[in-house]
Amino acid sequence: MTTFPKTAALMRRGSEFLGSRHAIMCGAMSWVSERNLVSAISNAGGFGVIACGAMTPDLLDNEIAETKKRTDKPFGVNLITMHPQILDLIDVCAKHRVSHVVLAGGLPPKGSVEKIKEMGAKVICFAPTLALAKKLLRSGADAMVIEGMEAGGHIGPVSTSVLAQEFLPELAEDHLVFVAGGIGRGEAIAGYLEMGAAGVQLGTRFACAAESIAHPDFKKAFFRAGARDAVASVQVDPRLPVIPVRALKNKGTELFTAKQREVAGLLDSEGIEMAEAQLQIEHYWAGALRRAVIDGDIENGSLMAGQSVGMVKKEEPVADIIAELLAESETALNRR
Ligand SMILES: Cc1cc2nc3c(=O)[nH]c(=O)nc-3n(C[C@H](O)[C@H](O)[C@H](O)COP(=O)(O)O)c2cc1C
Repeated sequence: MTTFPKTAALMRRGSEFLGSRHAIMCGAMSWVSERNLVSAISNAGGFGVIACGAMTPDLLDNEIAETKKRTDKPFGVNLITMHPQILDLIDVCAKHRVSHVVLAGGLPPKGSVEKIKEMGAKVICFAPTLALAKKLLRSGADAMVIEGMEAGGHIGPVSTSVLAQEFLPELAEDHLVFVAGGIGRGEAIAGYLEMGAAGVQLGTRFACAAESIAHPDFKKAFFRAGARDAVASVQVDPRLPVIPVRALKNKGTELFTAKQREVAGLLDSEGIEMAEAQLQIEHYWAGALRRAVIDGDIENGSLMAGQSVGMVKKEEPVADIIAELLAESETALNRR
């Protein structure tokens, strides 16, 4: 007997695919989604995902080993597609028999999807457009995540509600689609499940869980913030395409604008190539996020957060957050 039968029935395909009790993924968050949070999510019946970010293969090896010491439940590893050692990182996942690999940050490089499947793991991809989703599914992706611009971190231009209407009617019957971005309560989960989603992915709601190692000041900034404080970064130079990042507004937001000007200046003087310019911007974000999450520098660091941040009010154990989301979803489904 499950306490949330209607939600469980709608999540069945997703939870069977993930191997978790509930089809609720905690999206990888650089610096935040490490051994402690990931194992806590999986132990509580959700699906945790390690954020590999810029880790070397050795660091990832250690992180997976430490996570496995803390949970015997399945969890995933999120790899950034432009990581120069992505194929070595896949080998590390294979060594540990990781069950699911999430490829984020752009088109999977040639051979990566095949390599993950050869090791017997499932591949989960992000798709910004329906056409690309279809292509990725044809090339072997086992499931898709669609993520709207309400989300925290790097974002696309379209809202979750519109992406859900574009993708789910076309894909949900034959494929597994997880919906992410702006989900703070279970009523929203119920809505996307009814539209055909196999499950959901949340980041912001879990970032300040009791088991998250984020600095206490980072967490306090989340508890104080409202939806309107989580703003998307602005691109200052049309020649320097920067993927927008949603974060709480602080001095770091202005520092990022200054960083873009500096890098654009280098482009002007032909001091660097475009690829190097974009890499510098990405490294800037990784460093700024670390300053906020680990060091607690909430003035100058990056407080990546989604618009659902206004629904994060206090530090709660992961199990309580998941139970609350499921109860809200079930109540909503019972009203229908
Ligand atoms: C602090 C933070 C860091 C994130 N870092 C990453 C990352 O490294 N890789 C990634 O694929 N997504 C990253 N994300 C996105 C999350 O995995 C997730 O998809 C997103 O948070 C879902 O939307 P929500 O924030 O509205 O719940 C990050 C999000 C946050 C809030």
